[in-house]
Amino acid sequence: MKKANAFGGGVGLAAVALFAVALVLNAASVSAETGAGQNPHEQPKPPPQEWSFAGPFGHYNQPQLQRGFQIYREVCANCHSLKLIAFRNLADPGGPSFSEKQVKALAATYKIKDGPNDSGEMFERAGRPSDYFPWNFANEQAARAALGAVPPDLSLIAKARTYERGFPQFLIDPFIQYEEHGPDYIYALLNGYTNEQDPQWNEYMPGHKIAMPKPLADGVVDYEDGSPKTVPQYARDVTAFLMWASEPKLEERKRLGMSVLGFLSIYALLLFAAKKKIWSHAGAKIPMD
Ligand code: HEC
Repeated sequence: MKKANAFGGGVGLAAVALFAVALVLNAASVSAETGAGQNPHEQPKPPPQEWSFAGPFGHYNQPQLQRGFQIYREVCANCHSLKLIAFRNLADPGGPSFSEKQVKALAATYKIKDGPNDSGEMFERAGRPSDYFPWNFANEQAARAALGAVPPDLSLIAKARTYERGFPQFLIDPFIQYEEHGPDYIYALLNGYTNEQDPQWNEYMPGHKIAMPKPLADGVVDYEDGSPKTVPQYARDVTAFLMWASEPKLEERKRLGMSVLGFLSIYALLLFAAKKKIWSHAGAKIPMD
């Protein structure tokens, strides 16, 4: 009986070892593929970037958010909506933190459709801080007719786009709190127009065909703070801005998480001390009869 058990255990262990080897080989072959050229069937993984908002102590870089907003406004807003963000949000703490005055002036530069008025007609008026960003297109059909595809709303795009990081990354990610898949993807996408013969080729778009023409080029937006006017810098800044749009309360959430962890650690120590005290009733004898 004993022998059979030992034998069975050996087979089990060997199976686990084989499985592990197979997983590692698979991961190695996947990562070898991702660097490769322009095969339409390959889906390369966006390279991870350094973001100020990553990790348990992450926070937004305010000048970066302001630059990112400038890119959104001057470039992306020609096609994309940002429905869930109101002008006044740009003054919220933990965001781009424009002043109330700046937000008011900005809102006034937009025309907002309002109404109906007393005679039952819709009318246009200057924007107010409480208005939401309007879209350049009247509806999706108009956008599709003009661009060949509907540009998705960008309010939640940094959370909506994700991808598999594969083995062994997906085992490690929960521990290092990796949640920047969306920003890595957007950054890679904006830098992913790598085939000069085909302007619709994008290295990182699933299927590699994208209806969006390359939106950024060096020098198209004028930064006032002396940051480089290059595509990678523009892409990084607008991605950070879109991450803020998707998660305006990120800093608050991380701060709260850390204080809860701090509280729980102290509470655990107190409980442990209390348990020691109660259960070590010195000198007490358990009656045996
Ligand atoms: C000329 C119009 C136009 C401009 C300008 C533009 N886009 Fe797009 N964008 C599109 C269209 C159209 C699509 C839909 C593409 C498709 O489905 O093939 C799209 C899709 C996207 C997507 C989604 C890709 C996916 O995974 O489905 C992202 C992200 C994006 N755009 C970001 C941006 C950002 C950031 C900017 C500004 C730097 C920008 N776009 C500027 C037209 C535009």
